[in-house]
Amino acid sequence: MTSARAPILPGATVGVLGTGQLGRMFAIAARRMGYRVHAYSPDRDTPTGQVADKEQTAAYEDLDALREFARDIQVVTFEFENVPAASVAAIADLIPVRPSGFVLHTAQHRAREKTFLAKAGLPVTPFALIDSETELHAAVARLGCPAVLKTASFGYDGKGQVKIARSEDALAAWATLGRQPCVLEAFIDFDREVSIIAARGVDGAIAHYGLIENSHRHHILDISISPADVPPSLEREAVRIAHATLEALDVVGLLCVEMFLTRDGRLLINELAPRPHNSGHLTFDACVTSQFEQQLRAVCGLPLGSTEQLRPAAMANLLGDLWSNGEPRWVDACAFPDVKLHLYGKTSARPGRKMGHLTAMADTREEAIRQVLAARGALTTVPQEERRDAYQQR
Ligand SMILES: Nc1ncnc2c1ncn2[C@@H]1O[C@H](COP(=O)(O)OP(=O)(O)O)[C@@H](O)[C@H]1O
Ligand SMILES: [Mg+2]
Repeated sequence: MTSARAPILPGATVGVLGTGQLGRMFAIAARRMGYRVHAYSPDRDTPTGQVADKEQTAAYEDLDALREFARDIQVVTFEFENVPAASVAAIADLIPVRPSGFVLHTAQHRAREKTFLAKAGLPVTPFALIDSETELHAAVARLGCPAVLKTASFGYDGKGQVKIARSEDALAAWATLGRQPCVLEAFIDFDREVSIIAARGVDGAIAHYGLIENSHRHHILDISISPADVPPSLEREAVRIAHATLEALDVVGLLCVEMFLTRDGRLLINELAPRPHNSGHLTFDACVTSQFEQQLRAVCGLPLGSTEQLRPAAMANLLGDLWSNGEPRWVDACAFPDVKLHLYGKTSARPGRKMGHLTAMADTREEAIRQVLAARGALTTVPQEERRDAYQQR
């Protein structure tokens, strides 16, 4: 039997649980390095499945299907956190699960995650656990308003959260979330949102990317920019937080730490993602090693790659809303030679759904932002002459 620390080499098969765009880009990176990829989720013809060697369609609760999946792969990783603990345990009996079930279990539940971070001495947004009306009222009194109430489990892209403006609104807010276990957080009037992505190998080696600056629209990531426009001391503090979190959780794999930068210059952890993150998509084009290749290297026990960024970069998400007047004008966006187009192969474009992204690279971050916004704007802007032609044909 091979040692648990022996590297899993090119030619081997890696498994990924979850089949969205993160798994797709992971699979592309893995196949480029000669690995085979098997993907698992309850869905068919998925972003990951389309580029994987094999797409297995079964429920995350189906332990027999998971064991069958595990038999053909050498290691499993995630692109989706909400896999039940019993499912992860069934796989872990057969092959390495990286990051571990413990990391997943902690990060998939806001209350567990925040409690863990606070106990580890890491700076988190002030919070309280809510499982009863009494706890809710006490928490609102302690944290004050405005506050944000978030379901402990299954939240993403702002789903499962409600802002509470006045203490009288708290009970109604909890009712709209189905009175399920929640976390109440102080509303942070932040200066900016930032994130840091780092990987930790089987041997404990850590490599981090620089601080990324993020802006959200309607609670969904809109734009990410790297490098962030912050003083070096702040970036060092973010790196310290990321290293400490990776070590406290004993992560083998990738971790993104989302943070708020407060107006008085403090960093507070908002949430963790133990997998590639939307804010790191720009590493695919702008860095020597993308976050997806880094995840692969970490979970396969290979040495981590250089995280050096080659040019300033800006990423803009492409949401389903862009399809509201028909197919976006791909040719016009591709007319920007320093902008890279990524599409995830999703067949239906619903508003708010992440369909793809653009990454622009330039000599300065300002120019990268300008290019990426112009390219995204071009996707839905009908040029003057076409509008005139359409008018004349009427
Ligand atoms: N406590 C807070 N104070 C201010 N803004 C917040 C707070 N919590 C969340 N937000 C806003 O909502 C976004 C999504 O919330 P987040 O907790 O990251 O959930 P999700 O899992 O949906 O990404 C954040 O990126 C931020 O813009
Ligand atoms: Mg978030």
